[in-house]
Amino acid sequence: MSLYYEDEYVSLYHGDCLEEWAWLDAHVLITDPPYGRNWKSGSGMTNAEGRGKGSKAHGGILNDKDTTARDAALDLWGPHKPAIVFGDPLIQQPPRAVQALVYIKPIDAGIKGARAGFRRDVEMVYLVNPWTSGVGGSSSALHSSGLVAGPRGIATRYGHPHAKPVDVLQSLIARSPEGVIADPFAGSGSTLVAAAEVGRKAIGVELDEAYCEKIANRLSAQPLVRFS
Ligand SMILES: C[S@@+](CC[C@H](N)C(=O)[O-])C[C@H]1O[C@@H](n2cnc3c(N)ncnc32)[C@H](O)[C@@H]1O
Repeated sequence: MSLYYEDEYVSLYHGDCLEEWAWLDAHVLITDPPYGRNWKSGSGMTNAEGRGKGSKAHGGILNDKDTTARDAALDLWGPHKPAIVFGDPLIQQPPRAVQALVYIKPIDAGIKGARAGFRRDVEMVYLVNPWTSGVGGSSSALHSSGLVAGPRGIATRYGHPHAKPVDVLQSLIARSPEGVIADPFAGSGSTLVAAAEVGRKAIGVELDEAYCEKIANRLSAQPLVRFS
């Protein structure tokens, strides 16, 4: 467990978020945990190479066998502070979910492994714990303007098969209360980059050191903070 990278906005820890607790000091949790679907490259999902079956590009996501890691992290987070948690539509929703949003992936996503011709192009985004309720005008369908797969897609550019688009994360951050953002399953660091770009402080944890390095590279290559 160690502080791997730090700048004005982001602190990144290399280690197990179930043992490294600095992220629990944050005010809002925005995370894309291992979904618990035992994903492997070549299982028909979009992968870093933009290829489907037969690719040996990636052995899978750590702790993705079931939802234990996700649910244990949410237990640590507790029931009082708001959380946003990505998930697979076929896997059980996280505890204390109060609303489900849908991330509709770009047009190149989930082509390989389509069933009955339907692409695998949606993921769930759960609002967990208390959120303000009342009148709202924003659709619960979230879109990105970028591509996911192929050499120009985010999986390749950010070096993570499940990299999420920064613009989708920023639309979630924009709806979140003030304060520090936590992402205990940081992956390639899209939540941390999204936060820093809009001048929000963030704490990340990532178990795989190779991804920590990618995150540090992304954050140190970042242009000046954009307040938009
Ligand atoms: C779905 S990926 C996150 C992808 C990320 N949203 C992005 O945009 O790149 C989940 C990440 O959680 C990491 N992970 C799994 N178990 C962990 C744990 N106990 N503590 C910290 N990170 C963990 C995996 O290595 C993986 O990179």
